[in-house]
Amino acid sequence: MCGIIGRVGDGNALESLLTGLENLEYRGYDSAGIAVQNGSGINVQKRSGKVEELKESIGEPLRGEVGIGHTRWSTHGPPTDANAHPHTDESEDVAVVHNGIIENYAALRERLVANGYAFSSETDTEVIPHLIQYYLDAGLDSETAFRQAIDELEGNYAITAMVSGEHVLYAARQGSPLVVGIEDGEYFLASDVPAFLEYTDSVVYLEDGDVVVVDEDGVEFTDLDGNPITRTSETVDWDPEQAGKGAYDHFMLKEITEQPTSLAQAIEGRIDPTNSRIALSDFEPGTFEEIDTVQFVACGTSYHAALYGSLILNQAGVRSTALLANEYSVSAPPTDDDTLVIAVTQSGETADTLSALRQATAEGARTLTVTNVVGSTAAREADDALFIRAGPEIGVAATKTFSSQAVILTLLGQRIASDRQGEPPADLESLLPELASMPGAIDDVLDDSDAAAIAERYEDSQAYFFIGRGLGYPVALEGALKFKEITYEHAEGFASGELKHGPLALVTPATPVFAIFTGEEDEKTLKNAEEAQTRGAPVVAVCPADHPAVEVADEHLEIADTDPDLAGLLANVQLQLVSYHAADLLDRPIDKPRNLAKSVTVE
Ligand code: F6R
Repeated sequence: MCGIIGRVGDGNALESLLTGLENLEYRGYDSAGIAVQNGSGINVQKRSGKVEELKESIGEPLRGEVGIGHTRWSTHGPPTDANAHPHTDESEDVAVVHNGIIENYAALRERLVANGYAFSSETDTEVIPHLIQYYLDAGLDSETAFRQAIDELEGNYAITAMVSGEHVLYAARQGSPLVVGIEDGEYFLASDVPAFLEYTDSVVYLEDGDVVVVDEDGVEFTDLDGNPITRTSETVDWDPEQAGKGAYDHFMLKEITEQPTSLAQAIEGRIDPTNSRIALSDFEPGTFEEIDTVQFVACGTSYHAALYGSLILNQAGVRSTALLANEYSVSAPPTDDDTLVIAVTQSGETADTLSALRQATAEGARTLTVTNVVGSTAAREADDALFIRAGPEIGVAATKTFSSQAVILTLLGQRIASDRQGEPPADLESLLPELASMPGAIDDVLDDSDAAAIAERYEDSQAYFFIGRGLGYPVALEGALKFKEITYEHAEGFASGELKHGPLALVTPATPVFAIFTGEEDEKTLKNAEEAQTRGAPVVAVCPADHPAVEVADEHLEIADTDPDLAGLLANVQLQLVSYHAADLLDRPIDKPRNLAKSVTVE
């Protein structure tokens, strides 16, 4: 996730571009840059670091009435000055900012290099200015060159471009958000409304396939072929202060709601349901064929995702364990060079996890990190890194990054199993289409959830229990962790079958039990839930609509009927919503729970 801003109008664009970037920093903050048009062509200023650092480094005030800016969250290439946006062609005739992923960038880059175009970054984005320049060199006018270039891109994008000497911005949207802001004689393009809310509240939301041409006389809305389309403006009723959270009261709710997008980004270009293939291009075929054992190390929510990944691997026939990173120094199982140690960490900076990673390296294991942050310590220190592409997560409680971690670990697990066995696991054919439909299934949960009502009904409970079996177990642990950290109420997660081995003593009519059904021996989980219900506990079943548990339970949180490898992720979204609404009712500081920090850099 990155932030885009563009501005055309009278007067200097610099201030509104920098304000826009500051307002968008929640979308990415590892590098930033701007480009403005002035009498002597396009002037680009960009660097790694925060917008504040860019501002300080600009020095001589830049002048220009047209400009673009970008704040980056790295997906291709680390957060260096060279990889920061805007990107240009060699002669700086074309400047481009981009949010999303260009899937066919490698092929485009190869073709452009063969035609003599020289690249200076490791990003997928840089193909776009070169491609536009390629068509300008072929004699096309700027608008046609832009359209031709866009037509060749595969993947997700929101793009804004400008060409030297023109008072015009060109923009296109496919899968990544882009909005137009309209004020008398001044026009903005941005990833999100907060970028320009200080200047205008009149907004047009672009749709996939839209191409716009903006100059000081107005905005032309067209489809990719240049046919005019109608888009109407709306007035947004937002307080600029609140706008970093968009229309949401809390970043946590915003991030829960972002999961259809963040999951789509996580799997983009990495699965090929038509050919039943996992396309993790980061790894050559056979990369993992020598791996005998996999050890996951992680903390907190990332540990729950690691446990999820470990169960997937065991079920696929690969020996695997998930270990708390902070226990690794005292209880690490033996490793050798056929052991793969996978550090799962959203931030890539958790001290406990880094320490386990370093220990594994010292003991000769192969290492890999699954992380959200390109350029993080874990990404730099592990032998390999696989990025979950969830975008920045501001709320202290991890939400969207858990689902992205679990999905990426599911893909990685299937890939490791394929490499070791020399053929894809038998169930991959049915799993991949279900995986492709996950963003839609999460949307359905978000649209129809009864979580708010259930949180209210059980507001005065003494404790909250979460049970699950198989892949439902890490989800039960995660449901309880989320609940306790943001509500400050007592919550515990158990393997369903463990309830009768002790915890049942805690169960009363004042302890609701959330039972997660993933399709793995559900009849046993239902029996365990009934054992709690018999002792007076209300049972909330998290399961599909036609599941037998619906008849038995006191409450129901619905999820789609999907593959057991994925059902827990839908259940987790329901549980995130329950925790959120329960904490909201208690008026807790949801985004910053007491005593907790987003990144724990001490052991
Ligand atoms: C809980 C939470 C923490 C983190 C843990 C590890 O909501 O966010 O439990 O999961 O501190 O952090 P990372 O994933 O950055 O290593």
